[in-house]
Amino acid sequence: MSGDRAHWRAAYDDRAEADLSWFEAHPDLSCALVTAHAAPDDPVIDVGAGAARLVDALLARGYAAVTALDISDRGLAVARARLGPRAAAVTWIVADVTDWQPDRAYALWHDRAVFHFLTDPAGRAGYVATMQRALRPGGVAVIATFAEDGPEMCSGLPVRRYAPRDLAAELEAQAPGVFAPLEARRHTHVTPQGRRQRFQVSVFRREGG
Ligand SMILES: C[S@@+](CC[C@H](N)C(=O)[O-])C[C@H]1O[C@@H](n2cnc3c(N)ncnc32)[C@H](O)[C@@H]1O
Repeated sequence: MSGDRAHWRAAYDDRAEADLSWFEAHPDLSCALVTAHAAPDDPVIDVGAGAARLVDALLARGYAAVTALDISDRGLAVARARLGPRAAAVTWIVADVTDWQPDRAYALWHDRAVFHFLTDPAGRAGYVATMQRALRPGGVAVIATFAEDGPEMCSGLPVRRYAPRDLAAELEAQAPGVFAPLEARRHTHVTPQGRRQRFQVSVFRREGG
């Protein structure tokens, strides 16, 4: 994964936040799904958070236990600098989600545009194992990936595209009976460069003990 780390470090060094193709000034759908499934005192984690503004939106709504994790220290540094003193209210973790060992249980796992970069089966297995460890029973995962008619590349890297049923099948294959689909939506992201990107956003409940 060291190649990935170098890639994602450079991605945030090479462009301003608002020029990144995945930039969202207002992460309204993510925020709506997180706030629908987690209360302000619930522990919430945004994996592959990078410089995303979801943490800002959650802090503004009184969420008191927000964690942002990313393989790129540079992406998180952009968010920390933007937040200023409010950054102290967030737990920042530089780690590879495919082999990270959480030290607490979360009520909600949010991923926008990370899982679809895992084109290697071992990476997907590692991600799902981490998610299973990190989410408490009854916890909820919100996973946004490029849809089946979405882009085939992002940030110069190939991606794997998913219809909601494909994502559910992938999780079921990796962790049978653990992640129950609750809902799925289609979403169109318009990049700062004006391109339209089709996403699917799926919500799962973590079952079992
Ligand atoms: C397309 S960006 C999306 C960033 C953010 N979720 C957003 O919506 O703005 C993908 C992010 O995933 C991070 N990432 C890629 N592979 C990762 C991994 N294995 N573990 C943790 N983060 C990863 C990248 O550093 C980058 O910040």
